[in-house]
Amino acid sequence: MQVVLKIKRFNPETDKESWWGEYKVEAEATDRLLDALNHVKWYHDGSLTFRRSCAHGICGSDAMVINGSNRLACKVLLKNLGEHITVEPMRGFRVIKDLLVDMDAFLAKYRSVKPYFITHSPEPEKERLQSPRDREKFDDTTKCILCGACTTSCPSFWANEDYVGPAAIVNAHRFIFDSRDEGAAERMEILNSVEGVWRCRTVFNCVEACPRGINVTRAIGEVKKALLYRKL
Ligand code: FES
Repeated sequence: MQVVLKIKRFNPETDKESWWGEYKVEAEATDRLLDALNHVKWYHDGSLTFRRSCAHGICGSDAMVINGSNRLACKVLLKNLGEHITVEPMRGFRVIKDLLVDMDAFLAKYRSVKPYFITHSPEPEKERLQSPRDREKFDDTTKCILCGACTTSCPSFWANEDYVGPAAIVNAHRFIFDSRDEGAAERMEILNSVEGVWRCRTVFNCVEACPRGINVTRAIGEVKKALLYRKL
């Protein structure tokens, strides 16, 4: 099949504004969009800039807006996108060049919720045990690959870039509901702040955007509920 890729381009060294570049690519229907982007870079314009690494939906590098929705370029097949495909950088992040966005603020918010084990009690002689039932409580939120698709699909984030955002809350959830962790109270205080979970308006865009199928809105709801009832 032949596809026409319409890619939003921007080079801060030469462009005042972004512009659309159009590229015709011969491809197999079962190729992924990442293959087509690589083709453009390797055979049409080597200056086209985008992140990618694993090419298998694991590293979270190549989240972008594809036909209007946040997706991973390595996880969508051309046959499911039609013959005319638009590709843009994720919304709400500063564009460094073409599809490459500045994720520093996003990662700072991730770090702000302390996404690591916090323990205060004495080290046990063996490992800290956990029942399968307790492990299940945060299983969904262990799947996050920090691609940014959820946060940059969220209207609350577009309206207020200081909002900690769905991805950071998902990663806080992963530890708050882990029975072996003892830092829930610290994280809950951070998420109870003015830029915390209460900025979520339950729009559900994040659920649709997550390439890992995480029920992000449910996780945010569980943190809100835990804050309201302070069971932790
Ligand atoms: S390149 Fe790693 S998730 Fe797509």
